[in-house]
Amino acid sequence: MPRLLRFLLLLLFGLALVTGVGYVALTRTTHRWFESDLRARSLFVVTATNQMLARNWEQGREGLMEALEDITRDERVMGVAACSLDGQRLAATSAYPLDYGCRWVLARIEQEGAEANPWTTTEALPGGRVHLSAVTVAAEGKPLGRVLLVHDLSYLERREATTRNLLLVAFFVLSLGAATITMIAERLAFRVWTSELRRALSGEVTRDFKPLVGDVRELARRLASERDREARGGPWNPERLRSTLTTHLEGERVIILANREPYIHEKTPTGVRVQHPASGLVTALEPVMRACSGVWVAHGSGSADKETADARGHVKVPPGEESYSIRRVWLSEAEENGYYYGFSNEGLWPLCHVAHARPVFRAEDWEHYVRVNRKFADAVCEEVDSEDPIILVQDYHFALAPRMIRERLPRATILTFWHIPWPSAERIGICPWREEIISGLLGSSIVGFHTREHCNNFIDAVDTFMESRIDREANAIVQGARRSLVRPYPISIEWPVHWLEELPSVPDCRASVRKELGLSADALLGVGIDRLDYTKGIEERLQAVDELLSRHPEFRDRFTFVQLAAPSRTKIARYRELNDRVEALADEINARWGKGDYRPIILLRAHHEPPTVFRYYRAAELCYVSSLHDGMNLVAKEFVAARDDELGVLVLSQFTGAARDLTEALIVNPYDLGQAGDAMAAALRMSEAEQRERMSSMRRMVSEFNVYRWAGRMLVDAAELRRRERVSGRLSAPAVLARAIGS
Ligand code: F6P
Repeated sequence: MPRLLRFLLLLLFGLALVTGVGYVALTRTTHRWFESDLRARSLFVVTATNQMLARNWEQGREGLMEALEDITRDERVMGVAACSLDGQRLAATSAYPLDYGCRWVLARIEQEGAEANPWTTTEALPGGRVHLSAVTVAAEGKPLGRVLLVHDLSYLERREATTRNLLLVAFFVLSLGAATITMIAERLAFRVWTSELRRALSGEVTRDFKPLVGDVRELARRLASERDREARGGPWNPERLRSTLTTHLEGERVIILANREPYIHEKTPTGVRVQHPASGLVTALEPVMRACSGVWVAHGSGSADKETADARGHVKVPPGEESYSIRRVWLSEAEENGYYYGFSNEGLWPLCHVAHARPVFRAEDWEHYVRVNRKFADAVCEEVDSEDPIILVQDYHFALAPRMIRERLPRATILTFWHIPWPSAERIGICPWREEIISGLLGSSIVGFHTREHCNNFIDAVDTFMESRIDREANAIVQGARRSLVRPYPISIEWPVHWLEELPSVPDCRASVRKELGLSADALLGVGIDRLDYTKGIEERLQAVDELLSRHPEFRDRFTFVQLAAPSRTKIARYRELNDRVEALADEINARWGKGDYRPIILLRAHHEPPTVFRYYRAAELCYVSSLHDGMNLVAKEFVAARDDELGVLVLSQFTGAARDLTEALIVNPYDLGQAGDAMAAALRMSEAEQRERMSSMRRMVSEFNVYRWAGRMLVDAAELRRRERVSGRLSAPAVLARAIGS
């Protein structure tokens, strides 16, 4: 029932109750007043005529009638009778009601043992109620008899009816007034609320660590629309993903194409070591692969990769479990420089991230990019074992591969996921090979991005630069007979995280991390975990720590921020410069606030394996993710997954895709150093109850929207697409079949 209606009904009920109680109280009181009034009047009139009555008492009817008639001149007196002491009627006026004879009255008086003078009672007659009083007539102190007066009470009933009507009118007027005032107040409040909402939506309201209203609305919409669908299938986990593959895609193997491999074999002085790269893509896709089996085609970049793979570059992983294969593709140094460092990371990476780094586009890098995409596309086609395989192409390294694969495998279901932001069409227009990039992606059956905004930007870019028809209703691009769907799939992590199985408890992690950092047991700790990349806002993060200490002196000597920074893309000058700047900044801040052994910033520049990373997440009071622009950022979700104690606060940049999912984090603008410093202070002061409330809600979100659901949703969409294409008959054309693999 609407809130307003409920309130009005309650109000009316209250008013009715008050009116009813008021009516009863009022009639009772007026009754009492009238009765005592009539009693006094009876006594008065009989006393006033007492002499006359006493004088004529002995003469009976003839002597008494005149006096009795006199008494009935009062219009409310219906009738009067004179009774002897033994109950004989001596005289009575004509209208005196026979029901109340002298004997009857005297019997009542005796029965009640009443001595009051006058004795009174109220009686009901068929025509209405009457008031009866018996007043003693005396001569020289001796009682002679009684005069009975009957007063008509119908006027009293009339008055009661008038009172009742007046109260009813008052009730209706009050109800109407109250309802009108409530509705006006509600309307005014609604106006204020809607204008606040309008202000919030137009961005006038300060975020104050809160999520954008739009983000919450989008999140609520997504949760509501998915809850029904999902409730039927139970939680997403490896089993459900496997059964989805079996049900929807007849249990086919999945081929992943990604530049980064999930297990890198490195030579070390003590032998070959397996490394897990610091990569969001790997974090997300590795559990999917373990659940589905298949082949992961990737660049073999480790120094011991060749010697650990077979002649065709295959190696079974994960070590000891061996549920799927990596197919390693070997690149020459020139290829790696041009395709990976050059076009991918000096061109597309800064193009797609609004982090104020200029993209560099070199023709020779582009040529390598085209050649290497072809090389990987060929490797994928070598790995498939059917005419219509399912291929998951990952990221900006392989924008051209989907079309290249499509040319060889027209029936393939190709899902391409772009792990970084897709910027505005204007920005994409900077790239000299924008048409080729977009056309390459349109070889996919589905092109996925983290957010709807990135999808819209992609569709705009297609609209601006390509010959195609855009089906805006279906969010699809139609080119000739082919359709590519464009869909948002916010990526996530596995749940529960398997690395946590072997980890010590949170108190043990707290103690061991503080010990290895040389901190006291009660030191406050903040953590940042990143590749050393300029999009991650690491400089801004350290500056925010500086602000925290300058604006909130109580945290000096107590708070330490540890930054785990994995060196990344160090062949690129900008990354080396960033490394130097971060180091200098940490030194500067430590010089400003350090005292004795205390250093507010600890910079650990090295690759850290997941168990160490998760130990740090569990040890910290807060985790600050300060990306200047990030497609999703899975560090934020990992921190949430690590905190099974439901404590710890996430401070999160509003420019990450994760900020749309993790709305209970303290959301900040990383460029606003004061705001970020204040958010960290708020995190350090936050009560455990509030931490629990925020953390448990985020944990629910990540556990439900985990990576199995991400992959499952893409695969179900792909299966639907295949079904529709089969029905439309396009795929069964002999010419198409003839071009399939091996023919
Ligand atoms: O964010 C894009 C991305 O490809 C991620 O998938 C991954 O976290 C990161 O970049 C890895 O970069 P690289 O493979 O160059 O080390």
